[in-house]
Amino acid sequence: MQAKQTTIYIGSDHAGYEMKEALKKYIGEKADFKAVDLGAFSQDSLDYPDIAREVCEKIVDEKGSLGILICGTGIGMMMSANKREGIRAAVCTVELMAKMARLHNDANVLCLGSRIIGMDLAKNIVDTFLTTPFENEERHVRRIAKMEPNAKPANPEESC
Ligand code: RB5
Repeated sequence: MQAKQTTIYIGSDHAGYEMKEALKKYIGEKADFKAVDLGAFSQDSLDYPDIAREVCEKIVDEKGSLGILICGTGIGMMMSANKREGIRAAVCTVELMAKMARLHNDANVLCLGSRIIGMDLAKNIVDTFLTTPFENEERHVRRIAKMEPNAKPANPEESC
């Protein structure tokens, strides 16, 4: 019997379309992961926040799932995704960023810039992101909790 696959919700705007198609195929070849494509479905121009919203809503609904969002730079996707509660999105241009985003920040969305990095590097970054676990140490859990908009400051006197 096959072990449970982790769902990877993947999306792009028009600028990231080609890279998204290639990464969807790449992830689809992996036994442990299942890629679910939420668009774009053509290279027609569209607004990256719309796709970021679709992907983030799925991730929040499905515990343990991860996301990949691709636009020209990765920046617009990251900004859009990080507006959503429960989402920690990281744009990564090297493997070490993807590794640290998982280990220390428990990032659940990887953002990539199709006009910034090539396909080989994108695949390596995806591999790192998908296979690196969160370290789950108390200091990281504490810091991540403090990212949430309604988190209380550690010392109210110091925050004045
Ligand atoms: C689209 O031209 C471009 O602005 C978009 O893909 C992205 O790079 C925005 O952050």
